[in-house]
Amino acid sequence: MIKIGVIGALGKMGREVINAVCTSDDMELCMAVDIQKEGEDIGQILFSKQNGVKIETDIEKALSTSKPDVVIDFTQPKFVFENTKKYLNNKTKCVIGTTGLSEEQIQTIKELSEKNQTACLIAPNFSLGAVLMMMFAKKAAKYFKNAEIIELHHNQKKDAPSGTAVKTAQMMAEENPDFTYSNCPETETIEGARGANANSNIHIHSVRMPGFIASQEVLFGSSGQILTIRHDSMDRTCYMSGVLTAVRYVAEHNEFIYGLDNIL
Ligand SMILES: NC(=O)c1ccc[n+]([C@@H]2O[C@H](COP(=O)([O-])OP(=O)(O)OC[C@H]3O[C@@H](n4cnc5c(N)ncnc54)[C@H](O)[C@@H]3O)[C@@H](O)[C@H]2O)c1
Repeated sequence: MIKIGVIGALGKMGREVINAVCTSDDMELCMAVDIQKEGEDIGQILFSKQNGVKIETDIEKALSTSKPDVVIDFTQPKFVFENTKKYLNNKTKCVIGTTGLSEEQIQTIKELSEKNQTACLIAPNFSLGAVLMMMFAKKAAKYFKNAEIIELHHNQKKDAPSGTAVKTAQMMAEENPDFTYSNCPETETIEGARGANANSNIHIHSVRMPGFIASQEVLFGSSGQILTIRHDSMDRTCYMSGVLTAVRYVAEHNEFIYGLDNIL
């Protein structure tokens, strides 16, 4: 059995992850951390049945008492960097789903993971369909010189653009240095009208409103044609097989990985 700790246990993703862990055959929940409801039984809160795992608020203390094999972090962009350093300094393997890490922070985490020979897998998107959407976008990027990304999320999402959009742009940029080929010089009469300008001049437009969970469209254009690659998450269960696959992978390995595509 792989002993699992979940950080952000009471959040939308944390709850879904705990449910997936508790219904899997090869994992058991041994630790639940959040900044709310300290000392309460997580089983009682989620399943109306006690499971003996009390919510803790201090990550380092929880790691030393519960000794999980792998921790899974779905917290908040502003905390995830410091949290991840705590896991790696404690030599605890980790799967990081929280988005919002900068390229510099990811590099620092990679170095720490390698130095401590402790596996860390960061994935901005754990849904198989979204990972395929990113892979297809990278493939199409070879053949189109113009592309933009529109990502659409619920209005409680704290970071913009989404980690998925940033990763998609990075993957596409490996194929083409400039995706605004032959665009005329532009003037924004309202600032931000053309969205954020990511790798290789890929413009990213972030939509936030109730009704969406997570969707993304990658638009490719060339003379006389548009190719749209779109993925929609209809509910959060779509992430769970990717999260469990990542846990099983890091339990058996010791390296740093960025992106679920690298272990599929
Ligand atoms: N990688 C993916 O596939 C994927 C999918 C969906 C969401 N996300 C990301 O996961 C993160 C969480 O999303 P959510 O919708 O569950 O958010 P949420 O706000 O519903 O839940 C976050 C939880 O973390 C807790 N928390 C915050 N700071 C903490 C800390 N320092 N220590 C412990 N617990 C802390 C909060 O109390 C809350 O219960 C976001 O960054 C989101 O973008 C990633």
